[in-house]
Amino acid sequence: MDVCKSIDEIREVVKSLKSQGKRIGFVPTMGALHEGHLSLIRQAKEKADEVVVSIFVNPEQFGPNEDFESYPREMEEDLKKCEDEGVSVVFAPNRDDVYDEKKYIRIEVDELNRHMCGGSRPGFFEGILLIVNKLFNIVSPDVAVFGQKDIQQFQIVSRMVYEFNHNIELIMAPIERANDGLALSSRNKYLSLEEREIAPGLYRALNYIEKQIQGGVDTPSLLLKHQKSELEAKGFKIDYLDMFDKKTLQPVETLSKGSEYILAGAVWLGKTRLIDNFLIEL
Ligand code: PAF
Repeated sequence: MDVCKSIDEIREVVKSLKSQGKRIGFVPTMGALHEGHLSLIRQAKEKADEVVVSIFVNPEQFGPNEDFESYPREMEEDLKKCEDEGVSVVFAPNRDDVYDEKKYIRIEVDELNRHMCGGSRPGFFEGILLIVNKLFNIVSPDVAVFGQKDIQQFQIVSRMVYEFNHNIELIMAPIERANDGLALSSRNKYLSLEEREIAPGLYRALNYIEKQIQGGVDTPSLLLKHQKSELEAKGFKIDYLDMFDKKTLQPVETLSKGSEYILAGAVWLGKTRLIDNFLIEL
C-alpha cells in the first residue's frame, strides 16, 4: 500500500495506475476508521480496480467552538485497517499541503444547507465542498463512495459534482449500525458508558416514526413532536428531528405517495452530537 503525503506523490501514483487502465475508486475520510468506513472501502472495491482512501481532518468544516482539536486521530491503526482491506493508496496530507494561509475563493451553498446540519453548523458544508472539490481534483477518481449517515453531505456533494461537471460517479453506501441500531460514527468514541446505553434511542425514534409513516401517517408533525419529547425525557437535547424532501432538503409538512423523503435527526448526548436518518419512499 502506498502512503502519499504530498499532492505530487498521489498524482504520480494515480497517473501510473490510470496508465495501466485501472479504474480508481475513492473514499474520502477524516480517519478514526470504523466498520462504516470499511464498508465504504468495500463498496469502492466492487466498483473499481484500485481504491484510494484519504485521511485528513479538515479544519475548514469545524466551527470555532467545535471538536477539531479533540477529533480522534489514529493514523497508525487507520493505515493498518486500510492495508487489511486491500486499499492501494492512502493520501494523508498535512494541513499546509492542502491549504494556503489565505484563501481568496470559496464555494457557497444555497438553500440545500439551510436546514438539517447546514442549519445548525454555519460554514460546515462550505468547508466540506472546499476539501471534497480539492480531493476530487487531486485524486481524479472514477468513482467516489460516501456514507448515507451524512446524507445531506451526499446530496450537496452530488449537486456540486453535477454543477461543476466533475466526471465522477458517486455512490451512497448504507448506514452501518451497531447491534443495538446506533449508527457508527467516529464521534461515538466520545460517549461515556452510560451515554452509549442511551444513544440508540435516536435510531429507535426514527424507526418508530418510519413505521407510522409507512402505516399511513401523512402529516407527521405531532408524531415528530411526541418523539422529540420522548428523546428529551431520555436525556437527549434535540438539534432537529424532521422530515425533509430528498431533493430540495427542505422540511415537509404533508407527505404524498410517489415521493422520496429523508427522515433525519441530530441530537446531543452530553458533549456528543449524534446524527442518523432513514430514506423513506412512499
Ligand atoms: O464525511 C467525512 O468524513 C468528511 O466530511 C469528508 C467527506 C471526508 C470531508 O472532510
